Amino acid sequence: MHIAMDIGYSHVKSITTSNRVIIPSVVAPFRKLSLVDLSSPSDSGHVVEIRRVDGTISKYFVGEMALREGHGASFSLDREKHRHPNHDILALAAARVLNTGPGAMVVAGLPVAYYRTQREELKNHLEGLHAEVSVNGNKLKRISFGKAVVYPQGAGALFMAPDLPQNGMVLLVDIGQKTTDYVTAEVAEGNVKPVSSLCGSVETGVQAIYEIVAQEFLSSTGMPLAAIRVPEIISQSGRITYYGKERDFSGVINQARTDIALAISDQVKAALGDRLAFIKKVYLAGGGAEMLRSMTSLFPEAYVLPEPQWANAAGFLKVVNAH
Ligand SMILES: Nc1ncnc2c1ncn2[C@@H]1O[C@H](COP(=O)(O)OP(=O)(O)OP(=O)(O)O)[C@@H](O)[C@H]1O
Ligand SMILES: [Mg+2]
Repeated sequence: MHIAMDIGYSHVKSITTSNRVIIPSVVAPFRKLSLVDLSSPSDSGHVVEIRRVDGTISKYFVGEMALREGHGASFSLDREKHRHPNHDILALAAARVLNTGPGAMVVAGLPVAYYRTQREELKNHLEGLHAEVSVNGNKLKRISFGKAVVYPQGAGALFMAPDLPQNGMVLLVDIGQKTTDYVTAEVAEGNVKPVSSLCGSVETGVQAIYEIVAQEFLSSTGMPLAAIRVPEIISQSGRITYYGKERDFSGVINQARTDIALAISDQVKAALGDRLAFIKKVYLAGGGAEMLRSMTSLFPEAYVLPEPQWANAAGFLKVVNAH
């Protein structure tokens, strides 16, 4: 059995040949809910129980459930994602939801910038990870990964480009929450070869929009807003009720979208320099490609991949299925 995992700062995307799951990368300590029977956990998040080899059992709210019910919910990951304890909780939860058997082969991604330095460590980490896991009260089941393959983010997504040219240079830009990865590849007779000097990561993503909105919220209400609450405001098109008063953040959100799209494309263009002129096609992936639709007009010949947020995980699965 094979499983692909794209454990991002904002969402975990995980795919097997038969199923897939997306979970917000938020973990909070479990606590008993008095209204627990009013909502079915399966469509509103996950209660995850983990029994480690030493017998210790821990329980968490993961994903939507953590966002709603958790006190102390946090976006989970720091720069060295897999060194954060939430990384393993999210990986184990996703594998259990997808009913992965022990010893599954896993493919995971790393930002291009950290690929060389962290790839071996992440591989060893995933291969050493194992526990018994239950989600939403189902049976504790052993999860472990027999073999781990680590792939640069963005390079995965490139496998999902529907119409790669037979020859020439292509560029994939994966706009994530915290990082935007860019991968330039040379296609020759259909074979794709990344050009490492033209691959890298830019530390700007959708998070930058959240920060602008949170800042505006603070200056117009006088109250700070946790970054974790910003998506709720954006999903309501910027119009919210706050202490009985209508507030409209739609203008700020639109301006931030335009500004951040420009900032990201400027940084990627600067990194490519005059080689940009030789790029035949530009593909956009990551959830940020949906949020920042104006990116397509900032690059010549740019296309958003189908289901851009899934593109890396889907590409990883293609890689592992070829093994
Ligand atoms: N259809 C959509 N419209 C608007 N925003 C979206 C859409 N789909 C996803 N997003 C947002 O895009 C952002 C980036 O999502 P994505 O899953 O690519 O990030 P990530 O992989 O977790 O982050 P990183 O790559 O930095 O670790 C998230 O804030 C997500 O909510
Ligand atoms: Mg990502």
